[in-house]
Amino acid sequence: MKERTFVMIKPDGVKRGLVDEIVSRIHGAGLKVVSKKVLMLNRRTAEKLYEVHRGKEFFERLIVHVIWGESVVMLVEGERAITKMRELAGATDWRKAAEGTIRGDFGTSITENVIHASDSAKSAKRELSLFFQI
Ligand code: CMP
Repeated sequence: MKERTFVMIKPDGVKRGLVDEIVSRIHGAGLKVVSKKVLMLNRRTAEKLYEVHRGKEFFERLIVHVIWGESVVMLVEGERAITKMRELAGATDWRKAAEGTIRGDFGTSITENVIHASDSAKSAKRELSLFFQI
């Protein structure tokens, strides 16, 4: 089934020049980047994006990380796009992420884990609507 998902390359990934490599992995998985933009998240948008994590111990660290530099946000489309993107990203904790996954290859901490990809169709719809006219 064709799906749409939200993907964000976080400031650590952008700063380290990983955008082209990540986009190439997305294409390699047979997915299409329908739209892509570079932006600086403000605190309000970052808190909305991550509202399910509000109140958790790592929330403030996460928000500070995603607003310190430019991110690249993308609308990614294709067959089973949500699952495929989660597989490409790998486990949230870079130490547990398999080799060959984006976080396994490039993550440097649980917060600086390079990429975010929506975890469900409902999250994808909500997260995409924060950044794209859909
Ligand atoms: P992401 O997939 O963007 O979703 C929530 C983010 O919170 C996660 O990636 C990490 O960057 C960050 N984070 C920091 N600490 C933790 C933690 N202990 N558990 C889960 N996510 C964490």
